[in-house]
Amino acid sequence: MSPQPREPFVLTTPLYYVNAAPHIGSAYTTMIADAIARFYRIQGREVIFITGTDEHGQKIQRAAEEQGIDPQTHCDRVSAQFDSLWQALNIQYDRFSRTTDPRHHAIVQEFFARVWEKGDIYLSKQQGWYCVACEEFKEERDLLPGQHCPIHTNKAVEWRDEDNYFFRLSHYQERLEALYREHPDFIQPAARRNEVLNFVAQGLQDFSISRINLAWGFPLPTDPEHTLYVWFDALLGYVTALLPPEAEPTLANALSQGWPINLHLIGKDILRFHGVYWPAMLMAANIAPPLRVFGHGFLTKDGRKMGKSLGNTINPMDLVERYGADSVRYYFLKEIEVGLDGDFNETRFVHILNADLANDFGNLLNRTLGMLKKYCQSQVPDLDPQALMAANPLAQLGRTLGDRLVTAYEQYQFDQVCEEILNLIRAGNRFIDEQAPWSLYKQGKQSQVEQVLYSVLESVRLSAYLIAPIVPNLSGKIYHQLGLNVDFNDPSHFQSHAPFSEHSQWGILRSGQTLPPPSPVFAKLELPPNPNPE
Ligand code: MSP
Repeated sequence: MSPQPREPFVLTTPLYYVNAAPHIGSAYTTMIADAIARFYRIQGREVIFITGTDEHGQKIQRAAEEQGIDPQTHCDRVSAQFDSLWQALNIQYDRFSRTTDPRHHAIVQEFFARVWEKGDIYLSKQQGWYCVACEEFKEERDLLPGQHCPIHTNKAVEWRDEDNYFFRLSHYQERLEALYREHPDFIQPAARRNEVLNFVAQGLQDFSISRINLAWGFPLPTDPEHTLYVWFDALLGYVTALLPPEAEPTLANALSQGWPINLHLIGKDILRFHGVYWPAMLMAANIAPPLRVFGHGFLTKDGRKMGKSLGNTINPMDLVERYGADSVRYYFLKEIEVGLDGDFNETRFVHILNADLANDFGNLLNRTLGMLKKYCQSQVPDLDPQALMAANPLAQLGRTLGDRLVTAYEQYQFDQVCEEILNLIRAGNRFIDEQAPWSLYKQGKQSQVEQVLYSVLESVRLSAYLIAPIVPNLSGKIYHQLGLNVDFNDPSHFQSHAPFSEHSQWGILRSGQTLPPPSPVFAKLELPPNPNPE
């Protein structure tokens, strides 16, 4: 991987609603973001990875009321649950932005004042159907029978007829169209971009940014009877997150640190907010738009969107406790092409982990180390890796793999990253079977034995390095078995051990060192016993 410029790569997950404990859908966005952040870090690039929680609005207020506790206590509890899940899933975020943070309030007030002074906020009447689960007004034509929300299919929308302040989104129609035209990569993937273009082409309507009779939100600086609409407040949480810990909370201080954001990673349900409302709000405040918005697909269970409001979620903490962080990360990143929807099935989960990581990957390392012990006294053979390039099939595969996978990572194609790595690993297993080092050894062909074992071990090392953003614990264990002391969970490692990027090349395993005794790096998973056997 080539050295990267030193400016930080800034990326965000959405700020998650704290109406209920996190589910696997929220974990999905965060796992993708973490893999991207880790990919840039192992290349030596500084990263600011922002996540956090979105804590205002009707949905949260009702969730607190249902439990009979005050909203802030409720938010503190649930926000902490998100944080614990991120620790369990080995998510290395840099900033955790909470929209109830007083520093965020200061940023929101300053931003509101800018847009107010611009004349882009006015009072009018809002009538329409509101989905509290989405925190969004819905078009009547989009509703399902029984006035149900098309996303939260078990929730009826509510009629609203009240005075609200509006943001003049319609003023920004042309500037938004110019943004999409001049920056064709702004919204990805292409299907999402088309969705946005079609939506904007229908003509943009102003949207309401205040609520009346809702206590749980920031009061409007110009009319404290109103509270600010949760989305207007939440999107600004990305800006607040950029503030250095000690800095005074001003827009200038925040925006001087990593703005514009390189990547907003979101699910496809919140595309309109990020691809249309957010850049227009920023334009109104004379702030440059972010560089990219990427909308991933949904995780489904039995073909339906999995979500807190639908009540059909999988508890990610249970999965991590049963199978470990690496397994959960691997399944979701490998099995689902990132722009598309994907279904979760536990039997398939266990099968894939065992086939790929236990059988193909772990076993290749284990059996090769066993042979290294037997035929080479556990010493990495002393040979010139470059000399293997001409004829060794693993060296040939490995030679270009690093560069190819950089491109795949840059396009968030984790499925392809995993497939290409498995391809090398499977080639390693085949190579051993064909070359049969045990019989080469018996025939006294020691240098051939050494070439085979070196090329397999080096291929496993390269694979471990390249897959580290996805399964960092496993990669660290493999490196340890190969006598390399690298903690893939220690970001400082990648800045201080320059040029670490040489690890993405085939042929760097050092000759002559003695490797530790082989021990399995990935234990086979087992399905829990079926609670309802037939
Ligand atoms: N609070 C807003 C975001 C504000 S950002 C300034 C929000 N929160 S959310 O908790 O409802 O959703 C957060 C993210 O989780 C979204 O990207 C959403 O798409 C994602 N997911 C929620 N359910 C999902 C699935 N079933 N599958 C995949 N991701 C889904 O929206």
